Amino acid sequence: MKILFCGDVMGRPGRDAVTKYVPQLRRDLGIDLVIVNAENAAGGFGLTERLCGELYDSGVDVLTTGNHVWDQREIIPYIGRDPCVLRPANFPKATPGAGWRLHPVGPRNALVVNLMGRLFMEALDDPFARLDEILGEHRLGENVSAIVVDFHAEATSEKMALGHFADGRVSAVFGTHSHVPTADWQILPGGTAYQTDAGMCGDYDSVIGLQKEPAVRRFVTKMPGERPHVAEGEGTLCGIFLETDNHTGLARTIEPIRVGGRLAPHLPQL
Ligand SMILES: [Fe+2]
Ligand SMILES: [Fe+2]
Repeated sequence: MKILFCGDVMGRPGRDAVTKYVPQLRRDLGIDLVIVNAENAAGGFGLTERLCGELYDSGVDVLTTGNHVWDQREIIPYIGRDPCVLRPANFPKATPGAGWRLHPVGPRNALVVNLMGRLFMEALDDPFARLDEILGEHRLGENVSAIVVDFHAEATSEKMALGHFADGRVSAVFGTHSHVPTADWQILPGGTAYQTDAGMCGDYDSVIGLQKEPAVRRFVTKMPGERPHVAEGEGTLCGIFLETDNHTGLARTIEPIRVGGRLAPHLPQL
């Protein structure tokens, strides 16, 4: 199974990059499933029903989120009606929406799991224990063809630890939230693809996707200043190409993808 995973979509430049490049990547790379973290799609803060539709129309199948999921309040009543939008699975049990989705992919299926870290973030349930619970019901290569985990976390250590914790039991653990792609893509010894952060889809002439001048000023003056706005330059699509084995469900290929905007382009050599 060929899967495209894209990091945090940051406002309009991020959405434009997805709309522009996902259809052609789907076609050129023969992608079967597209997963996108959309927690910043609405002006950097949350996502709306309309923007979910816009992302689906450009060929995205499943949307993951993170700490910004509830920034647009209209998503709260919507999320229960749309099983393709996930919120972190280790939110408290009664939270609206789902933390994982078993998505049909042709004759097969893929489990997408959204988890959030706890280091330097809000206090949440244990993401390691929650993943164990979910994997107790979904066994890779048995009742699920592929399992992709979006681990939305701040600390690289926590992300790497979860990668090794899940190694051999899931197809991939991909990090999101830092808005910067890391250069450590690899297949771990047990066969799980791993990258600490997929990077954002957005304008990289910015401070993690926000306009740089006010962001710099906040650090310099230590004053709150104006409400931050998304940087509006051309966005780079940052993602990861993953190919899984149809029998074992483990990773066969992992390659970063960067297209458009300011970052050095990278496309898988297939
Ligand atoms: Fe984000
Ligand atoms: Fe985040």
